[in-house]
Order: sequence, then structure tokens, then C-alpha cells
Amino acid sequence: MKRIGVLTSGGDAPGMNAAVRSVTRAALGKGYEVVGIQRGYNGLLHSETVNLGARDVSNVIQRGGTILYTARCLEFKEWDYVLKAKQKCDELNLVGIVVIGGDGSFRGAADLSKAGVPCIGLPGTIDNDISCTEYTIGYDTAMNTAMEMVDKIRDTAMSHDRCSVVEVMGRNAGWIALNVGTAVGAMAIITPEVKFSMDDIVNKIKKSKENKRQHFIVVVSEGVGNIEEISKEIHDKTGIDSRTTILGHVQRGGSPTLRDRVVASEMGYYAVDLLDKGIGNRVVAMQSGKIVDFDIKEALAMKKPFDENLYRIADEISF
Ligand code: ADP
Ligand code: F6P
Repeated sequence: MKRIGVLTSGGDAPGMNAAVRSVTRAALGKGYEVVGIQRGYNGLLHSETVNLGARDVSNVIQRGGTILYTARCLEFKEWDYVLKAKQKCDELNLVGIVVIGGDGSFRGAADLSKAGVPCIGLPGTIDNDISCTEYTIGYDTAMNTAMEMVDKIRDTAMSHDRCSVVEVMGRNAGWIALNVGTAVGAMAIITPEVKFSMDDIVNKIKKSKENKRQHFIVVVSEGVGNIEEISKEIHDKTGIDSRTTILGHVQRGGSPTLRDRVVASEMGYYAVDLLDKGIGNRVVAMQSGKIVDFDIKEALAMKKPFDENLYRIADEISF
């Protein structure tokens, strides 16, 4: 019997379950058996697998997290472990594996493909920091969650005439901060991609206060600075009472939005189609709204320009 494997790796993201469901159902529909590999590459090395039938992926399309669990597996960066994984795939009779994760997971998928197991990467991360694709599974849900949280923070900032400095996730990328900041009408958005000056931010807030604005939201991407220091500087230089919030892992959970469910379903189906055609070592991506695929190494070498136009617009319309 032909068999296809599926695993989730790296940080979880809402919509991963919708992708697992799509891969499973698409593969079953084409006459494959499906093997769910638990906890990423760890599960492959340690034979932690479950057979996935049609009903095993029922009632998961709306669930956050990943029913296959996820983990980081540092050994997988060593070739000997990749060869061990190849042996496990042979024992499991796998014709290929769909790897749902981020860039690190794709590097593992490229290595495993090189060892002789065709792998297809599906972009799953809330950070949207995968260069070959304009969209990653989980991004929309995370942004909407963060936006709702900042809306709540705004209520209390407004009541108390305060400034709220809110840190959102994104690892080294500012995509969540940019979009959430725009969506909540932030006075300033601080991301790693765009150089910022605290003096400019402080002056903007002062000017806006003179213009009768009483509350302020500043959205900061994690990793660009200490939000306590940013908040203190705003307070010290403007006299406005300021508070900080780190949204943290709440952004990784929750039921996926329609967009994440739909993209996950499309990408999962597309991945199985590639494996069914005997094609491996590819990453599924979205370009201009269309689902496409790239060689993994080429995909990893691509660069994605930051949306500086949106950044400029958000800045110009908040005062
Ligand atoms: P993400 O996939 O979200 O980028 P990580 O960077 O943590 O998350 O990578 C997930 C897993 O992918 C790692 O724990 C490891 O098993 C595998 N991996 C990461 N980098 C490599 C690499 N250079 N070579 C092989 N496997 C890798
Ligand atoms: O990559 C997703 C992400 O949530 C990043 O935004 C964040 O920097 C990181 O993972 C947090 O990782 P962990 O859950 O291991 O603390």
C-alpha cells in the first residue's frame, strides 16, 4: 500500500490542523494510506506515528494548535540523523512527507529530500516570515487575535487618558506589528525592518496631544527593544501615563480564521498532488493570491520586501 506521511514542526500555528486534514483527505482520496508523524522530526526518528483515517481528522478544521503535536529536533541538523530518518521512512513505506512549518522545518525537508524521501513544505507560522510566500498558515488568525486584544487595551487606555505600548510576536519580522498597528490606528509602529527614532515618536505624541488627542497606542514587534524602556521614555518626555502589555502566546492559539482554514485546505491538497506526481523537494507558497511551488533551497534563498508603503500610510494617517 502506498503511504504518505504528514508532520508539523517548529512553532504551532492556527490552521495547521486544517492543513493536516486536507493532506489526509486528499491523500486518502487518491488511494494512499496516511501516517501522522507526531512531534515533528523527533517523532520520525523515534517512530511516534499514528495512522490517519478520514474520521481521525474530523472535527479538527476549527481547532487551534496541532493534533500531531510539534517539537524542535536539534539532531536533525546532523546528516546521520537524516539518514536514520530516511531508514524510518523506508520501514514505514512512505512515498513522501508533507512538512508543515517554517524555514527551519523546510531545511530539514530539503535534507530529507536529498536523502531520498520526497518532501513538500507547507508554510505554517504566525510570523509570515517565509520569503517565498506572501502568506503563511496561522498569520491571519494571529493578527486578528492581536487586534482584538489591542482593541480591549484601547478601551482602558481611552478611559484613563493613557498611552499603551503593546508588544506583538513575529520573531525577527514585523508583519504582525505592521498590520495590527495599522488595524488599531496605532500612533507608532515599531518593527525591525524600519529604522525608528524615539524622539520622532515622542514629538508625534506631543503634537497629537496638543491637537486634543488623549490616548495613544504604540505597537512594537518583539525583539526591537524593551517596551518598558519605550513606555518610560514616552512617559518621561510627554507626561502621559503609560502602560505596557506583552501579548505573548495568546497570539499562537485559538480557532483559525476563515482565511487560514481556506489557505491551509488549498495548500494541503496542492502538496499531495505534487507527491502523487512523484515530485519532492518543493515548498508550496502563495504569490499574487495563487498557490504555486518552489524548489526548497531556492525558496529559502528568496527575499521578501517589507511593505513600506503600508507602513508609511499607517504613519501618515495616525495623528
Ligand atoms: P520553524 O520551522 O518554525 O522555522 P525551527 O527553526 O525551530 O522552526 O525548526 C524546526 C525544526 O526543523 C528543528 O527543530 C529541526 O528539527 C529542523 N531544522 C531546523 N534547521 C535545520 C537545518 N538547518 N537542517 C535540518 N533540519 C533543521
Ligand atoms: O515563530 C512563532 C513564534 O511564536 C514567534 O513569533 C516567537 O518569537 C516564537 O515563536 C516563540 O517561540 P516559543 O513558543 O518557543 O517561545
